[in-house]
Amino acid sequence: MDAIELLKSDHDKVDKLFQKVKATEEGEHQALFEKIKEELDAHTHIEETIFYPKLKEEEELKDIVLEGIEEHRQAKMFLRELSNLVEESDKFEPKLKVLMEDITHHVQEEEGEMFPKVKKVFDSTTLQELGKQMETEKQSFKKSNRANA
Ligand SMILES: [Fe+2]
Ligand SMILES: [Fe+2]
Repeated sequence: MDAIELLKSDHDKVDKLFQKVKATEEGEHQALFEKIKEELDAHTHIEETIFYPKLKEEEELKDIVLEGIEEHRQAKMFLRELSNLVEESDKFEPKLKVLMEDITHHVQEEEGEMFPKVKKVFDSTTLQELGKQMETEKQSFKKSNRANA
């Protein structure tokens, strides 16, 4: 998988989890949130440590990367707040809803604006190489996170 395919498949995975949240009772949302968080933690990690730094080397991609980083920052704040909420908190459902809206918006920007530009700037060999690096990093990130949990 090249970098774009990998990131898109992550996005799809998270979107499926969002659809599940919408289709299930509140009692199931805590467990779904744990999965969403695990996926998003790994995904933002590989974007921030491998994908975004590579993009930032290109002048024409700088602004959109900086915007992406700010959106990640907000998402992480929500993820942290949701993790820290005591069970049965009234804030859980509305916060989860806003998180999902924010992520959906962020994904639309990446897929609609950022990725088409990336495809123009980088050749397929570079994107393949980036994809490989991110896949490896993702696996080790998930492994070490599970070990620490
Ligand atoms: Fe993404
Ligand atoms: Fe992102």
